Amino acid sequence: MKIKNVGVLTSGGDAPGMNAAVRSVVRCGLASGLNMFAIYDGFKGLLKEQIEPMTTRSVCDIIQRGGTILSTARCIEFVQEEYQKIGADIARKHGLDAIVVIGGDGSFMGARALTRQGVPTIGIPGTIDNDIACSEYTIGYDTALNTAMEAIDKIRDTMTSHSRCCLVEVMGRNAGYLALNVAVATGAETVLIPERPFDFEKDVLEPVREAKQAGKKNHIIVVAEGVDCDVMEMAKKIEAETKVSTRASILGHIQRGGSPTCRDRVTAAQMGQKAIELLLEGKSDRVVRIKDGKIDDIDVNEGLSMQKKAIDEEELKLAGMLAF
Ligand code: F6P
Repeated sequence: MKIKNVGVLTSGGDAPGMNAAVRSVVRCGLASGLNMFAIYDGFKGLLKEQIEPMTTRSVCDIIQRGGTILSTARCIEFVQEEYQKIGADIARKHGLDAIVVIGGDGSFMGARALTRQGVPTIGIPGTIDNDIACSEYTIGYDTALNTAMEAIDKIRDTMTSHSRCCLVEVMGRNAGYLALNVAVATGAETVLIPERPFDFEKDVLEPVREAKQAGKKNHIIVVAEGVDCDVMEMAKKIEAETKVSTRASILGHIQRGGSPTCRDRVTAAQMGQKAIELLLEGKSDRVVRIKDGKIDDIDVNEGLSMQKKAIDEEELKLAGMLAF
């Protein structure tokens, strides 16, 4: 079937650079003679028929903006076939021949379900967690890393003034990629990630005591949110055991906002272009990805069945080596 009308939606947690991806999809689509449509609020908005035509002006002045102008949602109903059918019927009713879905793994499952119901889809990876197995990189990760890095640099300043230790919890869902990279970038003394079990005495308390003895005036422990611990409680325990004044800071959603970095804008632009190219080639059920540093694509089923990316052991070693 010749594709003429294409919808674009953002789904799941937002990520800086999603707007740049929307802009690229819309402008590359229009430049190729396609009619482009916004679907607001992800799959939820599709079910509510929140669909509007887009022009090149619809995506003006958004490349530098965080968040997503299309809004996003996590749509629980969409795991049910009944709603997937309704979604596909609505897409057909509005004349949509294909949909580009920007989001994470959950969003790609929604996209795959739509394709199974007869609506071609292409996925673009957008999440600050960088936890999509089939892609080396996801839009938003670099911006989130930089945001977390700047926040931790600031935290270190005040820890130094007060000779304190601070636990800093960063996002990443079940993955420790963000935590590990930001730990190396900020010179954190310790990093705790879900992929690596830790011993509280040896991996947390000992380094704090050693740092105190060596006369260090600050101590940063980066903790990935996927680690099963309460950083507030852990801070109290560290202070009680080491007598080093300790605080905890949960960076939270600050990591999801802000103007995207150059890397995120360029990656988003390239991925948007690739998504439109794939549709023009008559392809569907594909996920755009980065493989060996280059833009590429993969079958969505294959992508979703891949194993979680391994933690970079060398980087983990380096984090430990540079800590003191
Ligand atoms: O997937 C992005 C992410 O920010 C994760 O790092 C975090 O676990 C989750 O989303 C938080 O989701 P919500 O904003 O729905 O609380």
